[in-house]
Amino acid sequence: MELFNVYNCYDINLVNGKGSYISDDKGNKYLDFYGGHGVISIGHSHPHYIFRIEHQLHCLGFYSNAVRNDMQEKLASKLGVLSGYDDYNLFLCNSGAEANENALKVASFHTRKSKIIAIKGAFHGRSSGALAITDNPVLSSDFNAKHEVVFVEMNDISALEKEISKNDVAAVIIEGIQGVNGVIEPGTEFLKAAESLCKSHKVILILDEVQSGYGRTGKFFAHQHAGIKADIITTAKGMGNGFPIAGVIISPAIKAWSGMLGTTFGGSHLACAAGMAVLETIEEEKLIENATELGDYLISKLKDDKAIKAIRGKGLMIGLDLENMPKVRKQLLEEFGIFTGSSGSSTLRLLPPLSITKKEVDQFIHAFQKITQIVPV
Ligand SMILES: Cc1ncc(COP(=O)(O)O)c(C=O)c1O
Repeated sequence: MELFNVYNCYDINLVNGKGSYISDDKGNKYLDFYGGHGVISIGHSHPHYIFRIEHQLHCLGFYSNAVRNDMQEKLASKLGVLSGYDDYNLFLCNSGAEANENALKVASFHTRKSKIIAIKGAFHGRSSGALAITDNPVLSSDFNAKHEVVFVEMNDISALEKEISKNDVAAVIIEGIQGVNGVIEPGTEFLKAAESLCKSHKVILILDEVQSGYGRTGKFFAHQHAGIKADIITTAKGMGNGFPIAGVIISPAIKAWSGMLGTTFGGSHLACAAGMAVLETIEEEKLIENATELGDYLISKLKDDKAIKAIRGKGLMIGLDLENMPKVRKQLLEEFGIFTGSSGSSTLRLLPPLSITKKEVDQFIHAFQKITQIVPV
């Protein structure tokens, strides 16, 4: 059997990771400024993460949700405290798309409506509903194009108000910061308007924090920079530092009923051990503060680089618009051994581990400036 060939990937076989570095089977070492799509939050092979998972494997790796699992309760409690949503409830699942799919379903059950308002440029995942609210027709099959969805322009308050006023809407879903679309931030005014319009029209406000959450932007969730509260928050990537775990964080105003949601693997003992290790490390090593400090430092060092047409983002979720982005990205990898990401054809996307150090940020800056000719090669 061969692989179903859907990925346009680098021919690099990674075999090791430690902190912010990864290495391949030929012994080449790379600085990881992308964290495998923003997944690596506390760094590769963190000792506490290994300890927690290894210990759990010796106890119990998995049992289904047919039994009470107090590790889920402990994880929910810690997540509540660290995120500031301690009066909300947590449903655990396995991926960002699945979290969004469940969030849409909860909103629809609660409101008994089915239409969703999403934002132009959005990416919410590749399952049926998540893809329907993703603004990229190329990814969508006829099967998932059948949902009732309207897209409004990011930050267009009057378009949002017009759609929401039709009173047939279950939910509005907004990414904390749009990642795949090029690190595009919703404005504070827009988020505040969305919060109040949703409240007055009894529509559920869902914040997709799959990429922008878990401390990445310098707050636990990116929408907290705007001082708003969502009815439902979805989270995934950084939550397990690579172990598949995702969450739907749900307002206490939305009541659960037995059988409303479900999953076989979601919230397994092993997944909870990974999730606890991440939260404990974020707290212990003050990684949210580190994201603010080093994100600000990186931007301050790059802001005058003439090769950069625009810098966007917060904390360690940064987009740099470059004339020749694919070439710069290739040079960073091939000449300087630095992994980065991209959005579209012109944005270099930086999502390093939240545990990145100043020395490692300097390594990136030095390489970038050599490529853009500020420092002579
Ligand atoms: C904002 C956002 N939501 C949802 C997803 C989907 O997550 P997953 O690939 O874990 O299903 C992604 C993935 O990139 C994302 O960036």
